[in-house]
Amino acid sequence: MKTISEQISNAFKAAIAAAFSPTLDGIDIDPLVSPSANEKFGDYQSNAAMGLAKTLAEKAGEKTNPRAVAEQIIAKLNVGGMSDTPPDKSWIAGPGFINVKLSPKWLAEQLSLAGKTDRLGVEPVAKPQTVVIDYSGPNIAKELHVGHLRSTILGDAATRVLTFQGHKVIRQNHVGDWGTQFGMLIANLQDKQSAGGETKLSDLEAFYVEAKKRFDVEVPFQERARLNVVKLQSGDADALAMWRMLVDKTREHYLPIYRRLGVLLTPDDERGESFYNTRLAAVVEELKSRQIAVESEGATAVFVEGFKTPLIIEKSGGGFLYGTTDLAAAKYRITELKADRVVYFVDARQSQHFAQVFATVKKAGWGDNVSMEHAAFGTMLGPDGTPFKTKTGGTVKLKDLLDEAEQRAFDLAKQKAAEREESPTDEQLKAIAHTVGIGGVKYSDLSKDRVSDYVFSFDAMLAMDGNTAPYMQYAYARVRSIFRRAAERGITFGDGATTTIALDAPQELALAKQILRFGEVVEQVGRELKPHVLCAYLYDLAGRYSSFYEACPVLTSEEPMRSSRLALANLTAKVLAKGLDLLGIEHPDQM
Ligand code: ARG
Repeated sequence: MKTISEQISNAFKAAIAAAFSPTLDGIDIDPLVSPSANEKFGDYQSNAAMGLAKTLAEKAGEKTNPRAVAEQIIAKLNVGGMSDTPPDKSWIAGPGFINVKLSPKWLAEQLSLAGKTDRLGVEPVAKPQTVVIDYSGPNIAKELHVGHLRSTILGDAATRVLTFQGHKVIRQNHVGDWGTQFGMLIANLQDKQSAGGETKLSDLEAFYVEAKKRFDVEVPFQERARLNVVKLQSGDADALAMWRMLVDKTREHYLPIYRRLGVLLTPDDERGESFYNTRLAAVVEELKSRQIAVESEGATAVFVEGFKTPLIIEKSGGGFLYGTTDLAAAKYRITELKADRVVYFVDARQSQHFAQVFATVKKAGWGDNVSMEHAAFGTMLGPDGTPFKTKTGGTVKLKDLLDEAEQRAFDLAKQKAAEREESPTDEQLKAIAHTVGIGGVKYSDLSKDRVSDYVFSFDAMLAMDGNTAPYMQYAYARVRSIFRRAAERGITFGDGATTTIALDAPQELALAKQILRFGEVVEQVGRELKPHVLCAYLYDLAGRYSSFYEACPVLTSEEPMRSSRLALANLTAKVLAKGLDLLGIEHPDQM
């Protein structure tokens, strides 16, 4: 079924076409339909009349008043059974907003339709796209740190949402596995091996720091590092073997973290920087020969309007850069993966880089109809408002952060259980700690507008009220508990697909309208790549369910009201579960 917005939009489109033919024939008018912010103004509104008045004035050369335009639209408007009151002047508010109040009977029918499929009434998109999503992007011989957390979590949620919408999503993990830093890393590894020392690299970060330190002060080490770079570039077998070992060791660090976070990324999704190595020279050649790239102080660079510094694609004296790789990757994604849309979940601090890469792709004409999007995100801040660091000022390792989240969730669960005089086993507590701790970290990130910085706080993310993972997880379990209690009382309730729903109490109506907005929200998140919109929606849904539950007895009601209310609860649970699934947040039936 179509979303309510879409159904209303279609009715308005038809009315506008009929009202202003032939003046507007052939012009696609957006009726600007959105849910009303205030119930006073109905459930949905169209803001088209204001813009239309201008367009009509331009076409016809005479001034038109938006309210009059609204009246003309309403005269042709056919909303079928959507509204109980036929469209008339009373629908017009302010300068020319047209308000639509939905009929409870129609809403109930829509709910029944939504309950019939496991897509909850959300239609797959009419034109599925191939969407490449670039996310996570850890660097070799470095551990994942909090900076990669946002990319990993946000990118994963976007993958889930776009897949649910029916798009073909290709995940690309642009691992930082190539570059001159490997010279010093290999040199350091060689020394460790010949000294017979530990090469397990259990502490990658320390290994990297050590190599860097030596590179900065030891001249012979520097020489060997440079030599290793040349060897690696020319495909020397020994150098490659060392390089591969470093890559494999790093993978051993991040794969368990992906699993722990429950993200979809697998080794198959890895297409690291090294993959593009053999393509870099050709890309530079192409851009040079087409005069898109020019010589600049010995280097090769692309000048993009609006930027003080150019995008360097080859250093003076040779050597390719991060940007060269991104150009080769963009070309590969467009021409070989056949992407219609390429999305990069990368820190906002790389905005200039991506703006220049995208501008270069455009100049080169590699994908004129491809949408290149930098889904930028802000910085995770510590309590003092500066970028999140350890107490001693180091970068926080993701593993440590997840450990602490789970430990705190464990302690909280234990304390809560003690207050209730329950004594769960350590195993049970661990399971809860994982669900709540990992869910907490993920949800606290997903629920913030990605473009802004945010202050990370264990206390806030594990809080039982507010827009948090534990609140949402408990809300879901609470809705599910009603069905367990129903079963205990011998009340049977099928899957709800065939139950007749009747909406009467204002809380029932408020809940029903929110359930039916699910498809609109999914569409918005897929377009804007902002999962916090889905979090806010689910939080609102949980709140409306609470109000409904407080005001409307369910199990103690007479039939057919009891079944109708159970059907509402059932749909609420399904939407909550689906929504949390799309965010990648676990939601056990019982907590
Ligand atoms: N490895 C990079 C970093 O840690 C992120 C890669 C982002 N993706 C890209 N195509 N540049 O900053």
